[in-house]
Amino acid sequence: MPFSVREGINIFLAGFVPTENMRFRDFELSFKVKGDSAEEQDEKKKKKDEDDDAKKAKSAYYLYPEMTKTLGPFKLKVMPGRFAPSECVVMLGQNGTGKTTMIKMLAGLLQPDEGSEKLPVLNISYKPQTIAPKFEGTVQMLFNLKLQETWQSSLFKTEVLMPLNIEGLLDNEVQNLSGGELQRVAIVLALAKPCDIYLIDEPSAYLDSEQRVIVSKVMKRWIMSSKRAAFVVEHDFIMATYLADKVIVFDGTPALDTFCTSPESLVTGMNRFLKMLEITFRRDPSNFRPRINKGDSQKDQEQKACGNYFLMEESLSKLKKKDQMTKDKEEEEEKEEAAAVEEEEEAPKKKKKKGKK
Ligand SMILES: Nc1ncnc2c1ncn2[C@@H]1O[C@H](COP(=O)(O)OP(=O)(O)OP(=O)(O)O)[C@@H](O)[C@H]1O
Ligand SMILES: [Mg+2]
Repeated sequence: MPFSVREGINIFLAGFVPTENMRFRDFELSFKVKGDSAEEQDEKKKKKDEDDDAKKAKSAYYLYPEMTKTLGPFKLKVMPGRFAPSECVVMLGQNGTGKTTMIKMLAGLLQPDEGSEKLPVLNISYKPQTIAPKFEGTVQMLFNLKLQETWQSSLFKTEVLMPLNIEGLLDNEVQNLSGGELQRVAIVLALAKPCDIYLIDEPSAYLDSEQRVIVSKVMKRWIMSSKRAAFVVEHDFIMATYLADKVIVFDGTPALDTFCTSPESLVTGMNRFLKMLEITFRRDPSNFRPRINKGDSQKDQEQKACGNYFLMEESLSKLKKKDQMTKDKEEEEEKEEAAAVEEEEEAPKKKKKKGKK
């Protein structure tokens, strides 16, 4: 007996066919928003501790300046930004709005237009959007050549290699890998490289839906535990929602004249992005899967009327709280920054006075 689309998708996610009493996957794929489950609460606490540590360190955040980039008829304006270690900034936008262009500028592969302030040199690990391997040899040989022993640590094995099912690919020729296998190998190469900032352009391309969920979990956990920052370009809305601590939205006329926002909090950024597309989301009550509301349905109209494009229902209040905490934290950091600058400016004056005495 065939199932409805909704039932079919939910059965696929649950990994269990109730009418047959048959389990076909050991675990359920769930879309609970960060902060909902005990596991996520732990992650949140861990992140808070890490944030506190990061706060103590003087170089607790990175800055990039306002920039423009012209490529033939295309012009991108990047608003200045600030991001912290352990933070994942997701870049959202239509095709041709300049996401890859911005990532390449952060990677130092493209120079901003003359007149833009210079970008600081960042210690990065970059996964490009298009992967065309020239390497002749096996996956293991590629890892040994590019990563030396970093990919052999037991932590990396359990946190990355095993969940991404890479060990079965080690003896395969790189040239013969399928699109999804190649993507997973490229993600491993990016995550294993020592750096301060990951720049990952479209990690979910070529991956099936199950692999996308696994890859986003692996990336999120690794970024947080390694205390590195990450910029991730992502078209898959579910993956983007799962990964994002902050969001950069690309807007304007694709291929011609576009701009992107500074990194914003998750709810603000997602609302901006969905408002641009005139789409509202709600959550499926059984597994929290984000679902698009039918245009002009009652829910769609209600959510649009109150500016709540990014669903959440019961989770919205939690996220709003989280957003407020992020904003408070940023304000606090800005105050500290201003105080530090003032102190630095005052120091030479005090020295001078002392010298006079
Ligand atoms: N070297 C170049 N010369 C001229 N135009 C370019 C060059 N590189 C990119 N462009 C143009 O700049 C625009 C932005 O490209 P970019 O690759 O940054 O978009 P994107 O947001 O990453 O798109 P997608 O989602 O399709 O990957 C596109 O219109 C592209 O054709
Ligand atoms: Mg791109």
